[in-house]
Amino acid sequence: MTDKLVFIADQNDAFCKVVTGWLEEVGLQTKIFKDTELCLNLIDQNPSAICMEMNTEGSVGLSGLKFLKRLRLANRDIPILVVTENEELESAVEAMKLGAFDYIVKPLKKTRLIYSIQRAIEIHTMVNKIDRLQGEIQKTHVYKSIVGQSAVIQRVFTQIEEVAEININVLIAGESGTGKELVAKAIHYSSNYKNGPFIAINCGAIPDALQESEFFGHEKGSFTGADHSRVGKLEYANNGSLFLDEVGEMSQEMQVKLLRFLQDKTLERVGGNKKISVDLRIISATNRKLEQDVASGKFREDLYYRLVVYPIIMPRLRERKEDIPLLVNHFLKKYKNEMPKKITSVSSLGMEALMEYNWQGNVRQLENVIYRAMVASRTEAIEIDNLPIEVQKYSVHSYETQESRFNQPILSGSTAAFATESAQKAIKIVATIQEMEQHAFVEAFKIAGGNIEQVAKSLGISRATCYRKIKKYKIEK
Ligand SMILES: Nc1ncnc2c1ncn2[C@@H]1O[C@H](COP(=O)(O)OP(=O)(O)OP(=O)(O)O)[C@@H](O)[C@H]1O
Ligand SMILES: [Mg+2]
Repeated sequence: MTDKLVFIADQNDAFCKVVTGWLEEVGLQTKIFKDTELCLNLIDQNPSAICMEMNTEGSVGLSGLKFLKRLRLANRDIPILVVTENEELESAVEAMKLGAFDYIVKPLKKTRLIYSIQRAIEIHTMVNKIDRLQGEIQKTHVYKSIVGQSAVIQRVFTQIEEVAEININVLIAGESGTGKELVAKAIHYSSNYKNGPFIAINCGAIPDALQESEFFGHEKGSFTGADHSRVGKLEYANNGSLFLDEVGEMSQEMQVKLLRFLQDKTLERVGGNKKISVDLRIISATNRKLEQDVASGKFREDLYYRLVVYPIIMPRLRERKEDIPLLVNHFLKKYKNEMPKKITSVSSLGMEALMEYNWQGNVRQLENVIYRAMVASRTEAIEIDNLPIEVQKYSVHSYETQESRFNQPILSGSTAAFATESAQKAIKIVATIQEMEQHAFVEAFKIAGGNIEQVAKSLGISRATCYRKIKKYKIEK
C-alpha cells in the first residue's frame, strides 16, 4: 500500500465501488465523497489526484463544472480526472479548459482509468518535487549571497528565519551599504510571498508631487499629463513584497496615505473610484535614525510603529571585521569572469590594510575597492598599491601609517581619531567634511553631466545616497 490517496467524488454507489476496487488493486488509497462540498473542505489533505463524475445530478453539494471550478480555486496543483457520459462531450471540453488533467468517456475501462490516474500522480509528484527544489535553490541563493560568519551577522540570519514566514512588517535599519536590500530580498524569497514579485520603491528618489501616483497608480486624465492610466507599485506588489527603501524620506502627505492603506490593504488609483484589495508583505529600510525623526515630528509616530513591528539592525562592517576576508573572497569570485586576467587572492599586506580600514561605506565600499583593485592588478594577487591611498595608509607596515592616520582627510578616515581634539577644532573639522563632500558632489555631478548612475559609480556610493546628497546640497538635476 502506498501513501498515495485518491478522492473519488460521485453520488453513484456502483461507480464509486468499481473505481475504488480498481485503484486499491494497484495499491492506492481512496476516499469517497457523495457530498462535493465536503470534498472541498477536505482538500487540505492534499490527495494525489481527484476522480470526479461530471454528471453529479442528484448529488449533495455543488454540481459538475461548478465543483471543478471551486476545486481549481482551492488547489491549483491537484490533478483532476473527469468521467463523462458520451453525450456530455461538450462539458468534457469545458472541463479540460478549466484545467482538468484528463477525461474518460463511459463505459469505463479499467486499464484506461488506472493508466490515467497513475500518470496524473506521477506528474503531480514531480511538480511538487520541482517546486520544493526551486524554493530551496532560491532560498540558498539569497542566503548564500549574504556572506558572513561573525556573531552579529549570524544574528541577522536568525532574525530573517524567524520573521520570514509570518507576515509582519519588518524595518531594516543600518548605515548605507550594510546590506539592507540584500536582507529584504532574503526575507521575501524565504516567505510565503516568494512566488510573487519583489517590488522596490526608493522613497527618497521620487519627487513629493509624484509619490501618490507612484504608490497608488492613476487613471487616465486624473491630472495634467496623465495620458494613460498607470498601475502603482502597491498594485504591482500584489501577492509579493513591497520594499520601501529610504522610508524616512517619504513626504508627510504620503505618510498619511500609506498609513491609511496599511489599515485595510485597499487602495484607489488617483482619479479612480474603484477600491482594489491587495495582499502583500511590507519590508522597509532606513539609514536615518527614524526615532529621532519621530521625536522631531518629521516622521509620523503611528506610521513608524506600524512599520517597525519587527526591527532588524544591520551591523556596520567595522563591527564585524572578521568577515572581511570572506567578503573579499566572495567579491573576487563574483567579478572573476568580468576580468581578462585571473586574480585569486590579496597579498597579506593588502589584507592587513583592508582589515584595519574604517569602512564608512560598509560592504558596498569594500566591494567597490576590490573591484577597482582587480582592474588595476597586474598579478594574480591584489597588492597593497592596487588599493586606494586612504586604505593603503591603514597597513600597519605602511611607512606613513602612524602619522597619516591622524592627518589624513576625514572623508576616508575615522572621525573618532579626532575625538581628543578640542570641541572648537571638531566643529571646524565637521564643517570641513561637509564642504569637502559638497565640493566632491558638485564636481562629480559636473563631470557626469548630471547622470546619477555615473556620479554614484565615480564616488563609489549607492544611487540612494546620491539622491540624498542631491537633496541635502540642493544640487540642481
Ligand atoms: N553580507 C554581505 N555579503 C555579500 N555582499 C553584501 C553583503 N552586504 C552587502 N553586500 C553587497 O553590498 C552592496 C550593498 O548592499 P545593499 O544594497 O543591500 O546595501 P544597503 O544597506 O541597501 O545600502 P544603501 O543604504 O546604500 O542603499 C551590494 O552590492 C550587496 O550585494
Ligand atoms: Mg539600499
